[in-house]
Amino acid sequence: MQSPLQSGLHVGIIMDGNGRWAVARGLPRVLGHKAGVAAIRRVVEAAPDQGIGTLTLYAFSSDNWRRPPDEVSALMGLLQRYLRAETGRLAGAGVRLTAIGRRDRLPAGLAEAIGRAEDLTAGGTRLHLRIAIDYSARAAILAAAAALAASADPSPAAFGRAVSGGAVPDVDLVIRTSGEQRLSDFLLWESAYAELHFTQGHWPDFDADDLAAALAAFAGRERRFGGLAAPARAA
Ligand code: IPE
Ligand code: IPE
Ligand code: MG
Repeated sequence: MQSPLQSGLHVGIIMDGNGRWAVARGLPRVLGHKAGVAAIRRVVEAAPDQGIGTLTLYAFSSDNWRRPPDEVSALMGLLQRYLRAETGRLAGAGVRLTAIGRRDRLPAGLAEAIGRAEDLTAGGTRLHLRIAIDYSARAAILAAAAALAASADPSPAAFGRAVSGGAVPDVDLVIRTSGEQRLSDFLLWESAYAELHFTQGHWPDFDADDLAAALAAFAGRERRFGGLAAPARAA
């Protein structure tokens, strides 16, 4: 489906460090995930005023199924509660929410909450919020390749839409919190020319000022896309 949003940056965030945030406070890891949901609320609220048109948040990777069952089910419950609690507010704020990733392995209640949120926020044009749940970039690319092989439109644009789950702009900026400097199978196709920004703080502490700092660093980068720097281009 064509996105109604034609402008604004696409920012992807690898929301990392919930567990370390909790452990540093002597709390169970699950309370770190709970605090992480509060950070999601803050960042979603701040994003449209900071020039972001598309925001993709990595909430649960397909490799996160390797975690202990208690942690996995707590995460699934938190995501379901977030969607149930926020759908009305998101719709009112002009936010269109969609999910990327597999749905067939999710608890039925979460899959249902995703579908409901997608339906009720479909008219939003201020921000396209994409939540990556049971997401693997490699799996998305492989599925798109299989779809392409069976499709009548083998164009690169159609392939890109199949990988991304719709017409979504390439990622401009990937932010990862908590000090790790890796992509962990996040948006590999869409981030071909993304700028990368790593912060030391843990995700539950991330706020609008941290988002603004990341965007300021991004504004200072020169993106060349394989061409030449501006002075050399003019010469
Ligand atoms: C990110 O925080 C949330 C998910 C991956 C679901 P982590 O749970 O990875 O936190 P750390 O990396 O263990 O601190
Ligand atoms: C990536 O974080 C996935 C999410 C933030 C949802 P991980 O904590 O799972 O990544 P690794 O294991 O450190 O690479
Ligand atoms: Mg982690």
